[in-house]
Amino acid sequence: MSPILVTGAAGFIGSHTVDQLLAAGLAVSGVDNFRTGRRTNLERALASPAFTLHEADITAGDTLDRLVATTRPAAIIHLAALVSVQESIADPALNYLLNLHATHLVAEAARTHGVPRLVFASSAAIYGDNPAFPLHEAAEKNPISPYGAAKLASEALLLGHGRSFGLTVRCQRYFNVFGARQDPASPYSGVISIFARRYREGLPPTLFGDGGQTRDFISVHDVARANLLAATRPAIPSGATNICTGRATSLQEVVQVFQSHYPHVSPPRRAAPRSGDILHSRGAPEKATAELGFAAAIGIEAGLGELILSRAA
Ligand code: UD1
Repeated sequence: MSPILVTGAAGFIGSHTVDQLLAAGLAVSGVDNFRTGRRTNLERALASPAFTLHEADITAGDTLDRLVATTRPAAIIHLAALVSVQESIADPALNYLLNLHATHLVAEAARTHGVPRLVFASSAAIYGDNPAFPLHEAAEKNPISPYGAAKLASEALLLGHGRSFGLTVRCQRYFNVFGARQDPASPYSGVISIFARRYREGLPPTLFGDGGQTRDFISVHDVARANLLAATRPAIPSGATNICTGRATSLQEVVQVFQSHYPHVSPPRRAAPRSGDILHSRGAPEKATAELGFAAAIGIEAGLGELILSRAA
């Protein structure tokens, strides 16, 4: 059986995607350079004989080309990336290398070796400060960071390859993904990963603003399932869709769920709103349902409950 090749396999979304591909009975080849990915994320996967892990930097020389030549994957799910918006602002050259040049190498390796399908980790960051609510895929793209710009450019590059060389390309515009294995290391990490760590340590989180801001928070399990569908569903067209729930959840609601699990932790501390923050964000989920048969199934309460109870959180 031809494997599915997952780049960034040891990352937050990558490792959950690998787990779901294996659970679906597929062979999986994973590649990661462990820059931000962690081997512990792959503990379950590494116990499976259907999983092969390659420790390599896909931007180095012909590493990726050789890997694709030898694994002959049925699809590539390209999730390896520089994932921090703040880091892309601090180091635009690294952002270019990891978020755009790497995409070009993936597209070229797929073309050279006849890989029929590519799935790409795009982001709601391509919409930038567009205030449309909900955000439909056709909304104007106003990226406000090198990260968002590289994701948008990557989409264009991949879809261009798809049309020129006949591969199916799926660009997955993830909204605010949360779940176990997300790294809470920086103050700009996903808010739920930061809150999960604070509550686990018995400390109140900090709310920037009044907590009325909303986001389209989607469980990483739903995101992994969307990746599985994009990589394996027969006879789908190339395209780009939001991967979101279509629901806006306020930070106050998030806090309430945490408080119900940690009744002894004092209420959040308040701080001034973070400059540059948008107030409300929500994606339109209909196009993903039409093109991939995907609809998010995990609500915020169930998703946070699972995260809080999971030991890997
Ligand atoms: C996303 C990026 C962020 C970037 C911003 C603007 C991620 C995880 N975040 O933020 O790096 O700067 O787009 O391009 O990709 N919050 C708190 N307390 C905290 C942390 C966050 O109240 O300890 C608030 C934030 O102010 C924000 C909300 O939670 O209002 C969500 O924050 P975040 O998870 O960073 O997502 P985005 O705002 O979408």
